[in-house]
Amino acid sequence: MNIQVYGSASKAGVAVAQVFAAQIIRDPFSVLGLATGSTPLPTYEAMVELYKAGIVDFSTVRTFNLDEYVGISREHEQSYYSFMFEHLFSQINIDPAHVQVPNPVSENLDEDCIAYDAAIDDAGGIDLQLLGIGHNGHIAFNEPGDLFTYGTHIVELSKSTIEANKRFFASADEVPKKAMTMGIGTIMKAREIVLVASGKDKAQAVATMILGEIDPLCPASALLLHPQVTVFLDADAASLLH
Ligand code: F6R
Repeated sequence: MNIQVYGSASKAGVAVAQVFAAQIIRDPFSVLGLATGSTPLPTYEAMVELYKAGIVDFSTVRTFNLDEYVGISREHEQSYYSFMFEHLFSQINIDPAHVQVPNPVSENLDEDCIAYDAAIDDAGGIDLQLLGIGHNGHIAFNEPGDLFTYGTHIVELSKSTIEANKRFFASADEVPKKAMTMGIGTIMKAREIVLVASGKDKAQAVATMILGEIDPLCPASALLLHPQVTVFLDADAASLLH
């Protein structure tokens, strides 16, 4: 695991955007794995800048998002589908037909999950996956548990995740209780992974991931087994790494 520490979250975001730019320039047909949340916002801003500067062309890129809430429509302003269009897709020249966000709407959600993994495989697998990390060490919505869950699946969100995400809703009661998420196995299949964390509140999760045991109680610790992971931190998120 390669670790890079930057003076600020925005500098880390620029560095991550440059990794994505290099990937797209190397292979304009790249398959990218994308994340939502506050952490990737500086990265998406920097990607938009690179696009506007004519450095990156997204027209043949395909993307798969990590996760989506169950029980709110795609049009809901807090859906991850809406988030991606607001913060990235509407501002770059990506073809909306090349964009996939989990869409847990059918009668049989397990079938939606199987179809999502199959769609990633059919696209040739993810070349470069972007991740954030939750305060409890979750990646995507893989919450701490007894086992690493391999494939895309439906998950009950933990209290701490609902608490962390209530800032986007009128109250904690309105935060959906379930989500569809890539599994640890889906994420580990990506050929290269970048995880970004910023802020003091992420320092403990980052330290547990990097310095602790490989343990499903810290889902992000599975990344220690992946051969091609870079962790981009600001100084605050790195503050417990001695
Ligand atoms: C989002 C996701 C989550 C977030 C994590 C951190 O697609 O998969 O695992 O990366 O909850 O969220 P923020 O960045 O809002 O602190």
